[in-house]
Amino acid sequence: MLPFNSLVSSSQLTPEIIVELFRATDEMAAIISKAGTHKLLDDKIVALLFFEPSSRTMLSFQTAAQRLKAGTVFAQSSSSTSFEKGESIEDLIRIVAGYADIIVMRHSQPGSAAIAAEVSEVPFINAGDGGNEHPTQSIIDSYTIFREKGRLSNLNIVFGFDSLQSRSIHSLSRLLAQYPDNRFVFTGPEKLLPDQNLLNELTAAGVRCEVQSEVDYRDNYDVIYVNRLQEERFDDVKLFEENRRKYRITKKDVEGSDAILLDPLPRIDEIAVEVDALPNAVYFEQASYGVPVRMALLASLLGKI
Ligand code: CP
Repeated sequence: MLPFNSLVSSSQLTPEIIVELFRATDEMAAIISKAGTHKLLDDKIVALLFFEPSSRTMLSFQTAAQRLKAGTVFAQSSSSTSFEKGESIEDLIRIVAGYADIIVMRHSQPGSAAIAAEVSEVPFINAGDGGNEHPTQSIIDSYTIFREKGRLSNLNIVFGFDSLQSRSIHSLSRLLAQYPDNRFVFTGPEKLLPDQNLLNELTAAGVRCEVQSEVDYRDNYDVIYVNRLQEERFDDVKLFEENRRKYRITKKDVEGSDAILLDPLPRIDEIAVEVDALPNAVYFEQASYGVPVRMALLASLLGKI
């Protein structure tokens, strides 16, 4: 049972909660491998509201619900709902909370998740609110790191390449800031380095933060975490076009390194396809953990485990 009804930010995910979620995730992975499904949520309806495009998050939440025998209801674009007529987030969430037992929402507006959680009468999960946060991705990412490295503390991590606008980087860095002795090196185009407020927040939490225009990936890193430039969030198209292929991990950057390479995906230009075959390229395993992690989260927030 989680000490909150709604997950809006990874700042809510304390090390104690992460231990519980990882344990539940392992249980869900065992259900998948042994029986495939379980009737744990067969009396529940999950509302999946995706007002921004998604492959992994939407499909893994749907798969998670179906593996636990929950029903699902969907809205897959603003234009297919009464947002198109000018309905507010608050009103939509109040209505959907009357239909479903839990709401998962992705929306382009930063802060929309907090607004929704505030008015929702049922548990609410932030599946990405614009360039702000993606807390369920941070559980998947930290689960992957823990499986590969055996710890979430004392990690030397590179984050690239759009730390300013990547909600996945915001959420993972906030989650890992709760563990001791971590060092984060942010790299990428100067205009896409993290917001000073985030750097201040992480530093205040005890993280050693650095920004570097270029890094040598063969330095002593444990994790290299990269994300595409967030094209849809650029006001300045020229800034995107000038930088989209400048920052790219190739085979020679990471072959033979002890560092694991993570990416929340989709992969666009940030990792060369030749890297996929390397043993330290774990981004497809990372994506596969989306189902058991989200099964664990749905079951926990619905009070079933
Ligand atoms: N990692 C992630 O959020 O992917 P999608 O945008 O495809 O859901």
